[in-house]
Amino acid sequence: MRDIRIATADRVMTVTLDRPAKKNAVTDAMYGALAAALRDAAADAAIHVVVIEGAGDDFCAGNDIAMFADASADAIARSHAGRFLEALSTFPKPLVAAVTGRAIGIGVTMLLHCDLVYVAGDAQLATPFIDLGLVPEAAAALLIPARIGHVRAFALFALGERLSGTRAAELGIANLALPAAEVGAAAHAAATAVAARPPGAVIATKQLMRDVPAIAGALAADRAAFLQRLETPEAAAAFAAFAARKR
Ligand code: COA
Repeated sequence: MRDIRIATADRVMTVTLDRPAKKNAVTDAMYGALAAALRDAAADAAIHVVVIEGAGDDFCAGNDIAMFADASADAIARSHAGRFLEALSTFPKPLVAAVTGRAIGIGVTMLLHCDLVYVAGDAQLATPFIDLGLVPEAAAALLIPARIGHVRAFALFALGERLSGTRAAELGIANLALPAAEVGAAAHAAATAVAARPPGAVIATKQLMRDVPAIAGALAADRAAFLQRLETPEAAAAFAAFAARKR
């Protein structure tokens, strides 16, 4: 599919967000392709690990804001985004992320569902949901405080604070911060190393480490709040401001 590339080698499926002209912002069609790739990888015994990366300098600038601006909450509810979040949050095999440049919105929240995260020291991670009149998605309101503590998480959400890749690694959002040019190789080396281990034991360990019912509950709650927020004047004003910023 255009905008998502999939390649498989050495029991590792690599999924590349490939829309660099838009900083790999994710459209509905991309969510659909991502959900399908994860479903296929889960069902294929020959695939042990999935790597997620971005083409070009940036990992992902978040949801495509035009998708929000152009569609009703009902249409977003029917979109592939929910299917992607479900596939991501229940994915049974290890997920490895390679993050350079910008990681914004879903570009950060998807990392919370990954098992190994390699990041460029100068990457910039941001979760500007409140600035868009929205609430954090992908169970981030549960998972980010659990990872870094409530007050740091609240500062990310409500003060718009950004994290460098170096700081993200210090706080436990990433395993390791590296020079940008080394991130992809580190992620692939880790993925290949995990893929060589007994896959049943790896899957069973991941299952023990993830509180899937709690995450499913948080996803359902933030989905309802997110859809409600999409139709507020606060969100409409933020989407219009983004569309108008270059005019
Ligand atoms: N949705 C849709 N398009 C996006 C996008 C997004 N989330 N992020 C970037 N783009 C597009 C820009 O509109 C621009 O398109 P254009 O060249 O056709 O005008 C292109 O990607 C390049 O972005 P630009 O803003 O020119 O680059 P920049 O280096 O000045 O800024 C960002 C990069 C990522 C900081 C900025 O684009 C941004 O803030 N994006 C929105 C991030 C966001 O709020 N995401 C949603 C989180 S829920």
